[in-house]
Amino acid sequence: MSKNRPVVIGIAGGSGSGKTSVTNSIYEVFKEHSVVVIEQDYYYKDQSHLEFDERLETNYDHPLAFDTELLINHVNELLERRPIEKPVYNYALHTRSEESILIEPKDVIILEGILVLEDERLRDLMDIKLFVDTDGDLRIIRRLMRDINERGRTIDSVIDQYLTVVRPMHNQFIEPTKRYADVIIPEGGQNEVAIDLMVTKIKTILE
Ligand code: C5P
Repeated sequence: MSKNRPVVIGIAGGSGSGKTSVTNSIYEVFKEHSVVVIEQDYYYKDQSHLEFDERLETNYDHPLAFDTELLINHVNELLERRPIEKPVYNYALHTRSEESILIEPKDVIILEGILVLEDERLRDLMDIKLFVDTDGDLRIIRRLMRDINERGRTIDSVIDQYLTVVRPMHNQFIEPTKRYADVIIPEGGQNEVAIDLMVTKIKTILE
């Protein structure tokens, strides 16, 4: 591990855009080196004090759903080369889990999530800002499959949430953050050229 300031990469984009694929592709290249992924989703506010039904009312696509103070604090700690206790999020229960994960400081910090480019303080900590740009039809198909297979949801609930919350919040809060991106990557993880360019850039900064 080098003594230099770690490199911080922000990867934003709508739900189902392919952020995770881009993140994984970059992670694979640097995993022998020194890299950590911080998922903004894990920083949803703790809702353990609320009843389950009340948690269903939360707007999870609004900037205020996140504990951004904690996220900023953790990125700053990692930048100071200090370890953090990363929270764990439970999508089925809609709240933070009891356990957390000890994360050691690394040379490359990937910050991934729908709204990581929304807060100016977070943006200011980033060396490279990416926005993964994928059409809405592909995003809803991916989200349907994922939420049913991995997050314990029904088709009806996913479609209802998409039309009433996810889509309008995307247009209001997520899409506008594209203007802050250094690079806009069409079609996420399938875009090998864009990923190669990113990897080269990160290596240059690390050197
Ligand atoms: O992985 P992805 O970027 O899709 O995760 C963000 C999405 O997770 C948001 O669009 C939000 O609607 C959804 N979410 C949810 N239920 C929660 C927390 C987040 O459906 N309890």
